[in-house]
Amino acid sequence: MAEGVTTQHRRLFSIEQAFAEGNPYADYAWFRAHDPVHVGEPGWPLGQPQVFLFRHRDVMQWLRDPRMVKRASQLPEFQALREERQWEPPEQDTFGFAASRFMLFQDPPDHTRLRSLANRAFTPRVVADRREEIEAIAADLLRAFRGEQGGEGDLIQALAYPLPVLVIASVLGIPPEDMHRFRDWAAVLGAAIDLPMAGLADFAARADDATRDMSDYLRGIVTARRDDPRDDLISRLIVARDEEGRLTDDELIATCILLMIAGHETTVNLIANGTLALLRHPDQWQRLVADLSLSGNATEELLRYDSPVQLTTRIVADEVEIGGVVVPRGSEVFFMLGSANRDEAVWDDPDTVRLDRQVGRHMAFGMGIHFCLGAPLARLEGEVAFQTLARESPGLELRDPHPAWRPGAVLHGLGRLDVRLSG
Ligand code: HEM
Repeated sequence: MAEGVTTQHRRLFSIEQAFAEGNPYADYAWFRAHDPVHVGEPGWPLGQPQVFLFRHRDVMQWLRDPRMVKRASQLPEFQALREERQWEPPEQDTFGFAASRFMLFQDPPDHTRLRSLANRAFTPRVVADRREEIEAIAADLLRAFRGEQGGEGDLIQALAYPLPVLVIASVLGIPPEDMHRFRDWAAVLGAAIDLPMAGLADFAARADDATRDMSDYLRGIVTARRDDPRDDLISRLIVARDEEGRLTDDELIATCILLMIAGHETTVNLIANGTLALLRHPDQWQRLVADLSLSGNATEELLRYDSPVQLTTRIVADEVEIGGVVVPRGSEVFFMLGSANRDEAVWDDPDTVRLDRQVGRHMAFGMGIHFCLGAPLARLEGEVAFQTLARESPGLELRDPHPAWRPGAVLHGLGRLDVRLSG
């Protein structure tokens, strides 16, 4: 954006507007073509203009740059503002308290330490051992959907939601019969991560209540596993806490909360958005039905085509220049992952689903040191879900051709997806 151009003379990107109808892709295309490094309104944390990156190459390059950090508290100006305004640190068990201990919102060295503790449970090799378990869960869920509802109704309730939830519970070591308790907590906290849409005070209170209840519940599980360790991630984190001193009690609980939210609110969208995209491209659905071995590549293409996480943000720790735009220290940068994944400079015909395309490096799981820890698990869950659906219900039909999108800018997903199993 050339200097001196005022907001009256240019188009301002509005997240709310772009997502209002659930299809931000036309807006993204416009910005990629006309204003790919878009300077927006002044915003958090220091009142500098927010900067939005729409192109694949910028997203990829700058997400890997160490000057793009998570914590504003790295900046001396922010510390000064904090003292001047006398901001208190968040109280124990509030959402702010837990979130400030999520690896997702940390920088090195704390980020490196926390990530390395959970990492082993999510490597591709360890995850691959869960394939049979995940296939059995998916097959059971579809059987129950047929048995209880005649295979007609909301696929999110029937498959897309319970599959990842049961799997992450199994990884962590949370009894599956307690899963219903997490549903509302995870929904509230997932929306709290959807920052641009969730600034309301009563919403913050609900997020704090959910954090408190979830923390209490998890502390009970930690006590039980301390007395009776099992082969699960919570038991391993307890060893790291008690015997090796590598994390605090608060970090242990926060890590479990983060993994539960991530396990609830993202893969659901991969399965539901992906199924919708397949049913809207019937030729591609038929390809999958005819050749189930396409389901791995199909998962990558569907992650690219309608990304479950549409954006992530960083704070600029040191002035940088991006595509000719000087971005001062303290600016918040929005990495538009969903836009990068439709970049015509990288993919031919990016607005079309093609299950056999060479998908290459999409940005759906981010890039750099925060690259999604759960990516191997999410990929396997997606692959199993699409494969099971295509095998068990080759004539799958969409009952509502225009399902409604939930509000939200970070997490992109449907409220419900009405289908009929068939064949
Ligand atoms: C299709 C499903 C998923 C998508 C699209 C997704 C997407 C992402 C993205 C874009 C990031 C990077 C955020 C950033 O750079 O700020 C991320 C980070 C993360 N994801 Fe996922 N995710 C998915 C599933 C999961 C699952 C199933 C888990 C856990 C079981 C998980 C755990 C995490 C964690 C812990 C981080 C933070 C990593 C770090 O800060 O180093 N994700 N995810």
